[in-house]
Amino acid sequence: MPNSMIVTVTPNPVVDRTLTVPAIALDTVMRATAIRDDWGGKGFNVSRVLLALGMESLALGFIGGATGQRLAAGLAALGIPTDFVTIAGETRTNIVIAAADSGHYVKVNEAGPTLQPEEIAQFLDKVRQRARPGDTWALCGSLPPGVPDDFYAQIIHLLKPCGARVLLDTSGAALRAGCEAVPFLVKPNAEEAAAFVGHPVHTREDALDAAHAFLERGIAQVALSLGAEGLLLATREAAVFAVPPAVPVKNVTGAGDALLAGLIYALERNLPLAEQARWGVAAGTASAMHEGVGVVTSEGVKAVYKQVETSER
Ligand SMILES: Nc1ncnc2c1ncn2[C@@H]1O[C@H](COP(=O)(O)OP(=O)(O)OP(=O)(O)O)[C@@H](O)[C@H]1O
Ligand SMILES: [Mg+2]
Repeated sequence: MPNSMIVTVTPNPVVDRTLTVPAIALDTVMRATAIRDDWGGKGFNVSRVLLALGMESLALGFIGGATGQRLAAGLAALGIPTDFVTIAGETRTNIVIAAADSGHYVKVNEAGPTLQPEEIAQFLDKVRQRARPGDTWALCGSLPPGVPDDFYAQIIHLLKPCGARVLLDTSGAALRAGCEAVPFLVKPNAEEAAAFVGHPVHTREDALDAAHAFLERGIAQVALSLGAEGLLLATREAAVFAVPPAVPVKNVTGAGDALLAGLIYALERNLPLAEQARWGVAAGTASAMHEGVGVVTSEGVKAVYKQVETSER
């Protein structure tokens, strides 16, 4: 553990802006009573949860324009070191208009800037320069326009020969292509795993079958997250189901990112599989209990950890 680093990669960051209005009314000017900006991006969520657990990480990604500068400053203020490739386009902003009276909302997402080939090449150069044995990299989220599906696969091909450990959390074509480069661990949720294997993941048997589809490709560990039902953490030799306690849930967005941070926390401590699963679920569920995305406290995670039930298969 000494001298080893954790690096998170967020190719498609976003500023999530929430405007609270007393009530949503169409064809009129509404006045915001509160404005909140969150530094959105799945790798950033992992970095935030790791920090809450006392582990520093470096966040990499692409940012552009004034929005990108604000995002970088926001992460710095949270105490997260970053190293970004600056792009010509403007980092996107997703807007939520939330009505205080009804709880209804309107959400508008931007597609985001299209990345240029030289910007992608610059990022891969950074990876090449930073690749070191013993480090752990988490590659997180969707890919922005202009980035090829095999972007994560390219990163894995750069890191693996150097002896870095790569964790991949994405979906669709980026997951499929990434798996071909054989990362150390993948973290699909039930829906992403179902899309990968081409059959639904409802039961524990479905989950075990889906996990084996990843393991057969040579991936060492599969963390198949199952929402309120917890996690299946599997290797070719062993499988553990970890189930969280029933808790009051406030916001499940980013719970999977928190789970990944919990797994990294346990992996960095060389804990056995069942303990990794417990810390993963504890961080995921602690995040689901919090209004904010990527927000947990160390006490909150530890409180859930004590109540996670594991069973080996
Ligand atoms: N309703 C819930 N109650 C308790 N814990 C939950 C709930 N939803 C999620 N969790 C916790 O969070 C973990 C990850 O959840 P989930 O499978 O929904 O991830 P995800 O779909 O990848 O989320 P995201 O991509 O938004 O971060 C679960 O394993 C569990 O520990
Ligand atoms: Mg997820």
